[in-house]
Amino acid sequence: MSKPTRDDSQLILALSKGRIFEDTLPLLAAAGIEVTENPETSRKLILATNDPNVRVLIVRATDVPTYVQYGAADFGVAGKDVLLEHGGEGLYQPVDLRIACCRMSVAVNAGFDYETAVRQGARLRVATKFVNTAREHFAKKGVHVDLIKLYGSMELAPLVGLSDAIVDVVSTGGTLRANNLVEVEKIMEISSRLVVNQAALKLKRERLQPIIEAFERASKQQG
Ligand code: ADP
Ligand code: PRP
Ligand code: MG
Repeated sequence: MSKPTRDDSQLILALSKGRIFEDTLPLLAAAGIEVTENPETSRKLILATNDPNVRVLIVRATDVPTYVQYGAADFGVAGKDVLLEHGGEGLYQPVDLRIACCRMSVAVNAGFDYETAVRQGARLRVATKFVNTAREHFAKKGVHVDLIKLYGSMELAPLVGLSDAIVDVVSTGGTLRANNLVEVEKIMEISSRLVVNQAALKLKRERLQPIIEAFERASKQQG
């Protein structure tokens, strides 16, 4: 019988630089995996680990679900905000890792009377990176909105009259305060999830399962 060409021992993990990479390191350590290169100082996009069979892809946070969905990565870590926009197709989401915790909120200029505008049925212009979540939130409330898709620095939009409100993630509230904005509605709590390619979970279960369990144990301990 010929040997199968597929190498089920190889594992590819997709992570984004910054808070998700940093917060995933202790979880990887709990699974015995140490990333041996630093994405902040290296321009390399495929990083080695102490395990020759495990490599880490450095991608944009919003691209993590896409790499995992198509199997270019076997597993990854992504925020609930990002996963809701992606839709989660082809992804198994076994663990809430309780990292990169924040909330998704509506914010407006300090002088804008949001409650009255909503009560009077005003049509609101809302700028956000999270158009699906925002659309669903305002539809549930019965508020008519024109959504303006942005890719970052949402806090600027109300300051320059691009929008009446924004939907963005908030943690300390420091960015809102620095820009004279106020949080008027919390939409949901956000944390990051482990996402696994559904086919990889079946084909590479022997390699993936212990890592999933180690991540789960470690995230419960630190949460
Ligand atoms: P991006 O370049 O897309 O902004 P980030 O690394 O800032 O990537 O965000 C990655 C994830 O971390 C987000 O999808 C969100 O779930 C979470 N997050 C974003 N901002 C904060 C924050 N200020 N505090 C905690 N978690 C955050
Ligand atoms: C995120 C988010 C907010 C800010 C909220 O920005 O887009 O601007 O954090 O956090 P705070 O409530 O603690 O101020 P981030 O730091 O990720 O910067 P970037 O996405 O614009 O690079
Ligand atoms: Mg960010």
